[in-house]
Amino acid sequence: MSETAARWDAQARARAEIDLAALRANVRALRERAPGAAFMAVVKADAYGHGATECARAAVAAGATWLGTATPQEALALRADPALPEDLRIMCWLWTPGGPWREAVEAGLDVSVSGMWALEEVVGAARRAAVPARVQLKADTGLGRGGCQPGADWEELVGAALRAEAEGLLRVTGLWSHFACADEPGHPSITAQLTRFREMTAYAEQQGVRPEVRHIANSPATLTLPESHFDLVRPGIAMYGVSPSPEIGTPADFGLRPVMTLSASLALVKQVPGGHGVSYGHHYATSGETTLGLIPLGYADGVPRHASSAGPVLVGGKWRTVAGRIAMDQFVVDLGGERLEPGAEAVLFGPGDRGEPTAEDWAQAAGTIAYEIVTRIGTRVPRVHVNE
Ligand SMILES: Cc1ncc(COP(=O)(O)O)c(C=O)c1O
Repeated sequence: MSETAARWDAQARARAEIDLAALRANVRALRERAPGAAFMAVVKADAYGHGATECARAAVAAGATWLGTATPQEALALRADPALPEDLRIMCWLWTPGGPWREAVEAGLDVSVSGMWALEEVVGAARRAAVPARVQLKADTGLGRGGCQPGADWEELVGAALRAEAEGLLRVTGLWSHFACADEPGHPSITAQLTRFREMTAYAEQQGVRPEVRHIANSPATLTLPESHFDLVRPGIAMYGVSPSPEIGTPADFGLRPVMTLSASLALVKQVPGGHGVSYGHHYATSGETTLGLIPLGYADGVPRHASSAGPVLVGGKWRTVAGRIAMDQFVVDLGGERLEPGAEAVLFGPGDRGEPTAEDWAQAAGTIAYEIVTRIGTRVPRVHVNE
């Protein structure tokens, strides 16, 4: 896209404004909750849709000393950013056979290893690169997703990692795990996972592992479970000012401020008679003569189609509800006869202090979680970073 077209798009159709001052303040607020722990800013999936480069820089400016990503490609891209400190630790955890182990080792990334196949691949890469790998062993303490099973599997993995460490091929820099239900306060799996984590790390340490960091705390655990902080906390969603779940509380309860505001400009306002069907399938019909406003965002932009006839939008100072189906590029709101100008602002979600809905409101309307709302905002929506 030409620069002029990009500017027009950012100003005219739709935009996701990303408030980096809010992100920095959120990082500081989270760090205050875990004063004894290092801070890993989780910036996977393009920083949950907020822009990985800008958010990583802002998080580091606010005191993050680690970055966390899912894929090695995400981590390598951040390592290539000259604006980030060279000694910044960057960890990635989602590997498949044949991954870019050698590039990761040479870039000094911390790589997660959950099983013997991964250990063998990283050791091979370290041998070829003649650089010791930084390896973090991941324990499945009960999530039942990634991570090494306790018992014989863990003993085998720890033993093999220590042998490779003795050969100078790697250093075990971390022991770590991930919660299943930290967003459900009081869930019995939380204490069970903490107990299992202590057992599995203790076993590794008895065998001779000397990790730089042990960690398990995601956002809800950082916010509500001090006993889970260990040496490092690893929040994602809370850094973006979004609550991990309604049960945990609102962002404001924790001094957090939503970072993303998604807005668009009305593409059309028109008067229609009563009984007029609206959008595909005619799931909405006007109850009388009214005005309709066309919002130029759709499911291709990440506005969830499941929020058809339900999603809230602030237009002309009032909450309106999506009228009928959300289409690929656009949807309609009933303006109740108000004659707003084309170009008037429609705010889908933001911090809420101008009266606009929040990402949590959209999550409720779509029957999903607020993580999905912000993360899925598509690449067609320009991110406008402010307060850098
Ligand atoms: C391994 C790991 N750690 C930390 C996080 C951050 O979680 P949250 O966004 O709930 O803070 C995630 C995100 O899903 C993750 O996969």
